[in-house]
Amino acid sequence: MRPTGRRLQIGAGCVAALWVLTLNPLARSAMAAETTQGFPPHLSLQAHRGAAGLAPENTLAAFRVALELGADGTEMDLQVTRDGVVVVIHDDTVDRTTDGHGRIGDLTLAEVKRLDAGAKFGPAFRGERIPTLRELIDLVKASGKDRFRLNLEIKFAEGREGQPTDLEERVLAVLAETHFLDRVITQSFYHPSAAKMKRLSPRIPAGLLVGQRQQPADPVAAVREHRVDYYAPHHSLVTSDLLRTLHQASIPVVTWTVNDPTDMRRLLGMGLGSLPGDGMISDYPDRLMNLRTHGQ
Ligand code: G3P
Ligand code: CA
Repeated sequence: MRPTGRRLQIGAGCVAALWVLTLNPLARSAMAAETTQGFPPHLSLQAHRGAAGLAPENTLAAFRVALELGADGTEMDLQVTRDGVVVVIHDDTVDRTTDGHGRIGDLTLAEVKRLDAGAKFGPAFRGERIPTLRELIDLVKASGKDRFRLNLEIKFAEGREGQPTDLEERVLAVLAETHFLDRVITQSFYHPSAAKMKRLSPRIPAGLLVGQRQQPADPVAAVREHRVDYYAPHHSLVTSDLLRTLHQASIPVVTWTVNDPTDMRRLLGMGLGSLPGDGMISDYPDRLMNLRTHGQ
């Protein structure tokens, strides 16, 4: 399903459930969510790149969809421009998602802002721009959804050619300046970056992203070794055994990118959501909301 307008008025009646930011004892504050009977109250339902299935990924239009649908939060990807501004974009070039070309690290913010980041998704989104992290935080604040959280993926940082070595510091500076430090979690495929975020800001829950080609032999040991809080595997890697092992070690699991309702139900059946801090990330937050409110 694709929307027909830029400012979607989707599901004003959707129940805004609570993102329980309890990935470590510092942030533990369990709250009850309005859910279908039996739905795990601790499961944080997060939109992926805003709502990448419904609007152009990582644009303010997509983040508005996530807010309006009642997601508990949204995941997004962070990188930095040549002049040091933290922007929200997945790839290290602008080629796939905009009408421009080049590496983010080679472009200034002014150059990035000239690009159209919406038209490739659909003509209704023409004029969308690559947002800065600060603009996204402003949007969330203006929405008045005080429980909405941001899941900040640090895109490789030091591990990526041409990237500055201080992406983490720049992200934390924006969070401090906007007084948003208590409303985020963070994760990275580049595990030293997740560890660095945790080291620099211990109050922010940090997690290890794990893809199909990058599985640690011992997930509990990997989380402990990097001194982070949670494990974030691709959903195909989540088994009952893995979930039990991590939960027994009090390590929450935030899994991605779960777009098929059958997979969503499979993960629930295994016990995802039984530990505070567990989460499920989807390009289709409408499907996550259906799961919570109607069990389907
Ligand atoms: O939330 C994790 C997920 O976003 C990681 O994959 O490639 O979409 O950034 P990717
Ligand atoms: Ca991501």
